[in-house]
Amino acid sequence: MNRKLLCVAVLLFLADAIPASAQKKAVDAEAHPWWQHAVFLEIYPRSFADSNNDGIGDLNGITSKLDYLRWLGVDAIWITPMYPSPQVDFGYDVSDYENVDPEYGTLKDMDRLIAQSKQRNMRIILDFVMNHTSDKHPWFVESASSRINPKRDWYVWRDGKGPGIPPNNWSAVFGGPGWKYDSRTDQWYYHFFYPQQPDLNWRNPDVEAAMFDVTRWWYKRGVAGFRLDAVDALFENPQLTDNPFIKGANGEMVEQRIYNTKLPEDHDVLQRLRRVADEYGAVLIGETWTDNIDQLKQYYGAHAAELQMPMDFMFTTVNKLSAPDFRKQIEAVESSGGWPVYVMSNHDIRRAYDRYGDGEHNDQIAKLIASFYLTLRGTPIMYYGEEIGMENNDPNRIEDVMDPIGRLNWPKNKGRDGERTPMQWNAETNAGFSSVKPWNPVGPRYKEYNVEIEKRNPNSILNYYHNLLKLRHTESAFLDGTYIPLNEDDANVLAYVRSYKGQNILVVLNMSGTSREFRPNLEAKGLSAKTARLLLASADDESQERVDSIRLHPFEAYIAELK
Ligand code: NOJ
Repeated sequence: MNRKLLCVAVLLFLADAIPASAQKKAVDAEAHPWWQHAVFLEIYPRSFADSNNDGIGDLNGITSKLDYLRWLGVDAIWITPMYPSPQVDFGYDVSDYENVDPEYGTLKDMDRLIAQSKQRNMRIILDFVMNHTSDKHPWFVESASSRINPKRDWYVWRDGKGPGIPPNNWSAVFGGPGWKYDSRTDQWYYHFFYPQQPDLNWRNPDVEAAMFDVTRWWYKRGVAGFRLDAVDALFENPQLTDNPFIKGANGEMVEQRIYNTKLPEDHDVLQRLRRVADEYGAVLIGETWTDNIDQLKQYYGAHAAELQMPMDFMFTTVNKLSAPDFRKQIEAVESSGGWPVYVMSNHDIRRAYDRYGDGEHNDQIAKLIASFYLTLRGTPIMYYGEEIGMENNDPNRIEDVMDPIGRLNWPKNKGRDGERTPMQWNAETNAGFSSVKPWNPVGPRYKEYNVEIEKRNPNSILNYYHNLLKLRHTESAFLDGTYIPLNEDDANVLAYVRSYKGQNILVVLNMSGTSREFRPNLEAKGLSAKTARLLLASADDESQERVDSIRLHPFEAYIAELK
């Protein structure tokens, strides 16, 4: 057995041998809040595991896979909306915040999932869709019933500018105008997303009280926090000033949503919501789309009083494997003073496997990406299936599209179905997800890329993730270390050291398709080392004790402790 395979085998053995208590000790070493050392995984419940074989994933399905997730190294699970919903936007149109949609199970199933997770030292995070409800939510039904209904002001109702003319020029994010006319009361209501998702009026204190109570209700049931949906769209300019338009890259006119997004009031509400979360020791994760680091900084709040975990989506906008671009992004978030939160893909963004794959080295690249966002200082949020190399499976015909974005914008934008396909568990029918036809087709390569097969292969993407997450949970430099960038002018290799109390771990990532010789500038950074102890490498390597010159295969990730 060569050195690399031996190393993998030892790691695999250790992986299952380290008791949970030992992991916990390491995690608590520096008294970090739990979420700073946790690895989060986003689960799209519709697509994870179908326990009752109706073609739709459910909560009991998730519960049945907790041992797998624990083995993988997941500490917290964020479940996208599982509340009762007409499913116009697949759950992001909530009609009851304090229940579970029968498609996904019952409240009892949720209680069991929370309890079973707790037993495995894992936490459950729910999605809080706070900008809007479904138009079928009883609050909206009441609100729409008459101009004098007590709930009228819970939503944003306005007179039009004239017959058939909406109150202003704001468009909805998913297409069409941002206002819908209601003939019964002869007014328009505002919707940032689909017409079936009317915006709540967060200027009304009753809305705030009711929504904050929703979070309390779930905290009391044992939920450990929330991922907050669309936090930059909570408030609108009260004068409803028209948004300006500017010319886009292709000459098209692009709306600048300056009067209905990122208003200062968003932050006031989030800070008050944080105070509620603090009563329960809960964590708030933000769906924080920002254009620059200053905007991201605001979400942490002065004195860290806002969101503990605003997601850094600027990272996902680096759409090619570029060492300089990623280096720049890491340095920006490192300089923010907040705790970085890294995401590579999610249910709205094409899978990383497709975005970065070159068609030839995709598996290598999948390991490279993992090596990087799972070893940086900060908290990563994984997306289900990326650990087995799942790729997008986009619809080919408009008739097959389920996501309204895809139906509205076909064929330019095929929607988000492709990144939401069923989890691939084994090589059997429907990838072991369900015994009946799943709601969304399984990706075509499931026979090769699935949990069962990859678990058996020590060189699989899955085992690479498993080994990497093991290192992340046990090495102090990964848990608590600073980030020291190396060779900052290298155009192909992204390299850094994570350093903590004398432990220095070197991470070297060849982001190019050619072999390279890499000479880390350790001395320039006040570091020195004679040899290195290989912790993990994504390619077969024989002689990697040397640190002055490291040979890298195309797209190789090399992780070693400096000695
Ligand atoms: C962001 C969610 O991630 C997306 O899936 C949803 O469509 C919109 N918010 C509307 O809730």
